[in-house]
Amino acid sequence: MDEIIFLKETTSTNDWLKEHCNSLSDGACVTAERQTMGRGRRGHVWNTASGMLAMSVLLKNPRDFETLTARVGLAVCSAVEELYTGVKAGIKWSNDIIIENRKVCGILCESVRFGDTLNVICGIGVNISQTDEYFKSVGLLNAVSLKEASGVELPKEVLCKKIRENVISRAEMTFKECYSEYKARLLNLGREVRITRGNDEHIARAVDVAENGSLICEDENGRFEVYSGEVTVRGKDGYL
Ligand code: BTN
Repeated sequence: MDEIIFLKETTSTNDWLKEHCNSLSDGACVTAERQTMGRGRRGHVWNTASGMLAMSVLLKNPRDFETLTARVGLAVCSAVEELYTGVKAGIKWSNDIIIENRKVCGILCESVRFGDTLNVICGIGVNISQTDEYFKSVGLLNAVSLKEASGVELPKEVLCKKIRENVISRAEMTFKECYSEYKARLLNLGREVRITRGNDEHIARAVDVAENGSLICEDENGRFEVYSGEVTVRGKDGYL
């Protein structure tokens, strides 16, 4: 359980782990200086500039895949707060990690089955040291780096090791055990949200989280649940 593989360049650390998962053990982790085809949710390109930590952790037959992304989000939040004094990390449902209303990290969990083993790949991209000027120049107006938020720049390896450790321990926990912390960190609660499903947009208020991690919203017709994977949720008038 002590594997971290450091690569100079790969297409995507998620794809690299998918290819090699059968020869690696549970908890193996890969990080790359550069990804040439980094991927975000719903097929988006994930631009991996220098200053970003791109890492993926392999979990074999983890419990409850449905809530894993939420628990990985908590693993990242606590790693950030443990290492960067005074920084407060929150979650924008379902899987964006937020500091001071801007996105510091995105998570993409994917799975590939081999026989009886479900290999789950938890891909994590963290903004470590990019400047606000850089984000503006590439049109990422809702992004922030840990260095901009805290004034501190830690080596990528330190954060990678801590996140991996936390992902492994959160993967062993149930969502029930994490539920109150998840709710406390969830920044959407009580806010008006814009739910986008394909071309369809819907405004509602985010009011709660269900035991399966879905977001409970309310509009004039009552309460309904939205499931991650099928929708994007943003603030009614902006990112959050
Ligand atoms: C998102 O917010 O859309 C999720 C972004 C996930 C990016 C990370 S970077 C490491 C890993 N490799 C990838 O190709 N994607 C994930």
